[in-house]
Amino acid sequence: MSAVSSVTSSIRTARRVDRFTYAIRNIVAEARKVEATGKKVRYLNIGDPNQFGFVTPAHLIEAVTKAMRDGHNGYTASPGIVEAREAVAADFSARGVETNPDRVLITSGTSEGIELALTAIVDEGDEVLVPSPTYPLYTAVLAKIGAVPTYYGTDHTNGWLPDLDHIRRAITPRTRALVVIDPNNPTGAIYPDSMRRALIDIAEQHGLVILADEVYGDLAYDGPIPPMARLNPDAPIISYSSLSKAYLAPGWRAGWMAVGRSPRLDGVLAAIKKLADGRLCSPGPMQYAVAAALNGDRSHQASFRRELRERAELTTARLKTIPGMSCVAPKGAFYAMPKMTLPPGKTDQDYVMGLLRATGILVVYGSGFGTDPADGFFRVVFLAPPAELSAIYDDMASYTFA
Ligand SMILES: Cc1ncc(COP(=O)(O)O)c(C=O)c1O
Repeated sequence: MSAVSSVTSSIRTARRVDRFTYAIRNIVAEARKVEATGKKVRYLNIGDPNQFGFVTPAHLIEAVTKAMRDGHNGYTASPGIVEAREAVAADFSARGVETNPDRVLITSGTSEGIELALTAIVDEGDEVLVPSPTYPLYTAVLAKIGAVPTYYGTDHTNGWLPDLDHIRRAITPRTRALVVIDPNNPTGAIYPDSMRRALIDIAEQHGLVILADEVYGDLAYDGPIPPMARLNPDAPIISYSSLSKAYLAPGWRAGWMAVGRSPRLDGVLAAIKKLADGRLCSPGPMQYAVAAALNGDRSHQASFRRELRERAELTTARLKTIPGMSCVAPKGAFYAMPKMTLPPGKTDQDYVMGLLRATGILVVYGSGFGTDPADGFFRVVFLAPPAELSAIYDDMASYTFA
């Protein structure tokens, strides 16, 4: 008798995977099929500046290679190396939020910080307020841990600002946290201080933790915007950022989170550290770039912001001239969220797939970020050089969707 099993049915996967979606990368499978037909695909789906010719500052590369050469290739302490945590704390303090390095963790990008915080705070069945549209990792992680995202509207007719009444109405006894992404992906919106204060007030009134995603904080075209926590350092705010965007090193998976000084967050901080122990540490050599980035020359950011502003203006101006299309001007980051008027019965995904198959232009449908499929939103990443963008927008304009 052979010991080899004769069962041929495929191995069952966990149900949580069915709930987990990440449209920004999922859609690439469709693009590959189009490429297989011989058509060139122009990828405007992923916010990775390095894929469009922007380069990591040399002193950061030097810090990482030196760390490797100096033998820093083992595990680090799970919250991260002291130099990096001190540099993050000093950077927050310089931006007006006195921060203790003990409340800082170095993470594998902002992404890991988001996952650690949500896992530490939210039980199965609990609810978390996320903006619509949102960066989709929030809803994906919530799906994974069995929690419930509650979308709150952000209004494209009002510069994509959050609808405060909608947030208040959406809060239930199970709501635990409020996600604020500012500057925003996918809309490019930046919130005025009055809005940020109002969000903090709502969180305070209802005992919610604010997850302040500030990964684009230094990429506002008019210059860096201060951390949300500066407006109320005693509010329960967890702030995140990373080297991915403003320091042009997304593949390094080097980020950080700072847990606000409020004693109300002490238990959360302990829970996050406990979870962080289980994953040992974030990539060690890359942690050495954090102090180099935050204490060193940031002049690349000024030119990056200029380049982004130019592309944002080009994008808004060109997309607005396409019949049926409107586009709110982004104020930071490298995304725009235009809206296409759709024929009855059609969805944003129909438009995006039609555009991909006809022109090879890959953008992401708005419903992948939580908007209504019938609303016709889609996200454009405008990191390509202006001449290339211009040619892409010509092709977009010549595509007729029916
Ligand atoms: C709003 C937002 N948060 C977090 C992330 C993840 O960034 P990181 O590379 O730091 O994990 C992204 C990446 O695009 C983002 O847009």
